[in-house]
Amino acid sequence: MKESEKKTPLPGRPPLATAVLRAKTVGAPLASDATVRPGKLASQNAAIFDVLKKIDTGTREFDYTPQDFERVRVLIYKHAGISLSPVKQDMVYSRLARRLRTKGLKRFADYLDQLERSNDAAEWEAFVNALTTNLTSFFREAHHFDLLGEQMRKCPDRRPFKIWCSAASTGEEPYSLAMTAFEVFGSNPPVQIIASDLDTNVLAHGQKGVYTLDRVERMDKERVQRFFLRGTGVQDGHVKVRPELQRLISFKQINLLDSTWALKETFDAIFCRNVMIYFDKDTQYKILERFVGLLQPQGLLYAGHSENFIHAANLFKSLGRTVYARSDAAVRR
Ligand SMILES: C[S@@+](CC[C@H](N)C(=O)[O-])C[C@H]1O[C@@H](n2cnc3c(N)ncnc32)[C@H](O)[C@@H]1O
Repeated sequence: MKESEKKTPLPGRPPLATAVLRAKTVGAPLASDATVRPGKLASQNAAIFDVLKKIDTGTREFDYTPQDFERVRVLIYKHAGISLSPVKQDMVYSRLARRLRTKGLKRFADYLDQLERSNDAAEWEAFVNALTTNLTSFFREAHHFDLLGEQMRKCPDRRPFKIWCSAASTGEEPYSLAMTAFEVFGSNPPVQIIASDLDTNVLAHGQKGVYTLDRVERMDKERVQRFFLRGTGVQDGHVKVRPELQRLISFKQINLLDSTWALKETFDAIFCRNVMIYFDKDTQYKILERFVGLLQPQGLLYAGHSENFIHAANLFKSLGRTVYARSDAAVRR
């Protein structure tokens, strides 16, 4: 599993043998333990078998009903635009279980009541952070970086070349953009990158720019050599992006669902990859409408490999391989 996918482990049903072992480790004797008084033994055994039965039938640590899942679905849709499909029940449980543990609660309903009543910004942030999916990698969908390089080469006179990376996750994508800029322009590339995401945890990770070695093992060796510093001592097994890459990027929190985005400029390229897939078509359309106004006339929108914007053909036309230009109608607007 990728580092960025790790949240809390899935609430698996332990096999019976594991359950027995767990019941034993809490100190309760089993029926064969002859040193315990029979009456007490019977009630203790009943308790153990009750525990085992519950575990074996999938009973969870926290009380979690289909209604709770529905509430989570509505809340995350309202706050982040994320449409959770009904098959995500287990995922929601495992992602939010830690929040209940931290708060010492036993029931999802109580957690959700508190969340909705409290106006606690930090808890809302933790709730949203827990439910985002942050899978990413360096040079993911590599052909986009080749095209971006061409785009940069074609407009050398208008500077700086501006890119908005609008679902930057843990930073691999904006750093890949910055590496491309160095490869095109050499030192001091005239390129500015805004890297944004809704999830504040992943933004903090991106800003630090420290990754485990496995994150770069599939990258070209020369690139790794050129753009990363190798950790030693306590940082052994890690790499850090070089500061010159970091200088090209400003990280900021932007919720694509918000009615205003803290952006003043227009862009030569907007990367919005593998996030629209979590939104329904209406939400996608509203975001795309706003992208039109933020793109330079020759600017390009880069989407994720399984995303398409056919339903917004009046706004964007496909150039193939999930790259879009403003449609003629949108340019005339
Ligand atoms: C699967 S990752 C994609 C990362 C990267 N763009 C890529 O393609 O490798 C999706 C990212 O979208 C972010 N996200 C989800 N909802 C969002 C929203 N409403 N506004 C901004 N970012 C959002 C998540 O936090 C997550 O980091």
